[in-house]
Amino acid sequence: MEIFSTSSEIRNWSRTSRLAGRRVGFVPTMGALHEGHASLLRLAAELTDDVVLSIFVNPTQFGPNEDFNKYPRTWEADLETARQAGVKAVFAPGAEFYPKGYRTQVTVPEWKSVLEGEIRPGHFDGVTSVVAKLFLSVEPDVAVFGQKDAQQALLIRRMVRDLDFGLRLVVAPTIREDDGLALSSRNRYLSESDRHRALAISRAIRASVSAWESGERDPRRILSVGKDELAANPPDVVDYFTLLDPDSLEVLDTTESVDKPAILVAAARYGATRLIDNAVLGTVWD
Ligand code: PAF
Repeated sequence: MEIFSTSSEIRNWSRTSRLAGRRVGFVPTMGALHEGHASLLRLAAELTDDVVLSIFVNPTQFGPNEDFNKYPRTWEADLETARQAGVKAVFAPGAEFYPKGYRTQVTVPEWKSVLEGEIRPGHFDGVTSVVAKLFLSVEPDVAVFGQKDAQQALLIRRMVRDLDFGLRLVVAPTIREDDGLALSSRNRYLSESDRHRALAISRAIRASVSAWESGERDPRRILSVGKDELAANPPDVVDYFTLLDPDSLEVLDTTESVDKPAILVAAARYGATRLIDNAVLGTVWD
């Protein structure tokens, strides 16, 4: 497994791979890899010949109240996870990825301010800009993202289409603990009792999904069964529990009927830890 820190190095490596007739897969991460990331890497290895993993804790997607410095950095363990998943190259740029004087942003207007974007102003500009830079560095044939960050995946899908990145975007299912909790690098911050309370999020999502699976199409009823489940074991704060149109990013809570694919998205806080989770209703990803 090779390790590179500059865009020109990884680009040369990737171009050499493609010139040899090999397909390059890419999984961008901020490190602190868990089984969810490992599953993305394994999927990329199934779909392509040479997988690149990037590890870059991107400062521009952290808000002023979010602690960039405290984000977990687990370099050695991450390399081991990468090796086991069959990664061929790791791209780990340093602070110079944003050279002195850097100004350019890639932005998806309006969508960047919905839900997560409303709570974390500037976050999605940081994400789309860094992912665009990473795509230009790695030039992958296939990029794999997790459905866990569904809104992120939707913005990146929009960006890939709008800017003709010429790559295939694959969105892979969320990996969960046996009890349903979606894997996240933030789970490590939950106390034992908060971790137990947090199971209400996946339970609430399951309740709403099974209402939809049983044929319910009224968004208020789909949401209310999930909200009841959440209320039975309430988080400290529910930021949202809502239905989203994946094509327009409009909230569907008061529409007549959910008659096309939708995403049920949830965000809740337990003390200082904010968790997000979601489920798709119908086929959302190609
Ligand atoms: O999902 C993440 O880990 C990050 O938002 C990403 C896509 C690597 C961009 O920094």
